[in-house]
Amino acid sequence: MNNSIKIAPSILSANFSLLGEEISKLDKTDCDYIHIDVMDGHFVPNLTFGPTIIKSIRHLTKKPFDVHLMINPVKKYLQDYINAGADIITIHHEIDDNVIECIKFLKEKKIKTGISIKPKTSYKVLRKYLNHIDIVLVMTVEPGFGGQSFINSQIQKIKNVKTLIGEKKIKIEVDGGINEVTAKESIYAGAEILVAGSSIFITDDYQNNILKLKKY
Ligand code: DX5
Ligand code: ZN
Repeated sequence: MNNSIKIAPSILSANFSLLGEEISKLDKTDCDYIHIDVMDGHFVPNLTFGPTIIKSIRHLTKKPFDVHLMINPVKKYLQDYINAGADIITIHHEIDDNVIECIKFLKEKKIKTGISIKPKTSYKVLRKYLNHIDIVLVMTVEPGFGGQSFINSQIQKIKNVKTLIGEKKIKIEVDGGINEVTAKESIYAGAEILVAGSSIFITDDYQNNILKLKKY
């Protein structure tokens, strides 16, 4: 098993009517983070949850909350997500707010900070963020929904991001369509954090499904 690979189950695929139990169940597994997809029905065509729900599940695990904000605007809500217990906050390059200002705000609050790019966004836009961030989140599906197929062209993008990062201590996270096959391809391309919804929640044995993704 590759211990440098971190797994972040996306609770978008959890049973929302049993959300607390789902978090407690993940807490007993070897997953590394809890990935929380915040969607506003505007930046993406789907609506999920906000800080109140995140706060309500915070006490159920000590695992870091990896909060993926698919919202626009973002800046005026950042403090709410910090208050709710986010450990990592990832925002999108494609928002209207000044991204550098958002990053500075998060870093001042000592929050691990990620920048995500959608599949059609060039990796080159990341250059201006590299001195400030901890994570690059490469979307391997169009953000909005779980259960979509991995977009293969993003493998080359992961490789390009890896080269761009060079010696900097920035981790590459991938999100969307991650299963045993695409996990392996993404890891070989340079990804170290794998987000997975469907392939973890597909059966009751979350631990086994998590270990399957870690084995490369
Ligand atoms: C999509 C979300 C993903 C999604 C992944 O916009 O950001 O985190 O839940 O789900 P799967 O693994 O099913 O593609
Ligand atoms: Zn996500």
